[in-house]
Amino acid sequence: MSGTVSGRHAREEPGRAPEASGATPPADEDWAILVAAARTVRDRSYSPYSRYPVGAAARTDSGRIVTGCNVENASFGPTLGAECGVLSQLHATGGGRITALVCVDAADVPILPCGRCRQLLVDHADPETPVLSPEGPIALGELLPHQWKLTEPTQHGRRA
Ligand code: THU
Repeated sequence: MSGTVSGRHAREEPGRAPEASGATPPADEDWAILVAAARTVRDRSYSPYSRYPVGAAARTDSGRIVTGCNVENASFGPTLGAECGVLSQLHATGGGRITALVCVDAADVPILPCGRCRQLLVDHADPETPVLSPEGPIALGELLPHQWKLTEPTQHGRRA
C-alpha cells in the first residue's frame, strides 16, 4: 500500500521525484479531502495507552497527500506523533515540501500539532503553510514563531 491518496490536486504518480519546492500553498486547498485522509489513517492509530488516536494528512507541493498516525510505546517517551508518520511518508514517497496540513482527533475535530511536532514540521514546510484549526487555517509561522533553523553559525555557534 502506498498510503497516498489521489485528489484533485494530484499532478503526478506517488513515488515520483517532486519538482523543486518553494510553491506557495494552494489557496483552494480542499480541506475536506485532507480531513478525510486524516480520519482514515487515524483509525489505524496505535494508541492503547492514551486512547487518543490522531491522524494527520498533508498536501505536498507535487500534489500528493501523505498521511500518518500516532504510534505509542509502553515506555511512553518514544511515542511517535501522527506528524512523524507524515514526514516519514513524505520522504518515502519522493520528498518535497508540505503545503497544507491537518490533524484530527477521535471526534473528527482538527487539532493543532504539539510543540515538538511544530518544530519537526518547520524543516519541511514554509512559515506560510496553513495548518487547519477548528477556527480555520493558521500559518505554521504563527504556530511556531522564531523557528529554529541551522543556518550560518553565530559567533557562539559551531566550531570551524
Ligand atoms: N499526539 C500526536 O500524534 N500529535 C500531536 O501533535 C500531539 C499529540 C499524540 C501523541 C499521543 O499518542 C496522543 O496524541 C496523546 O497525547
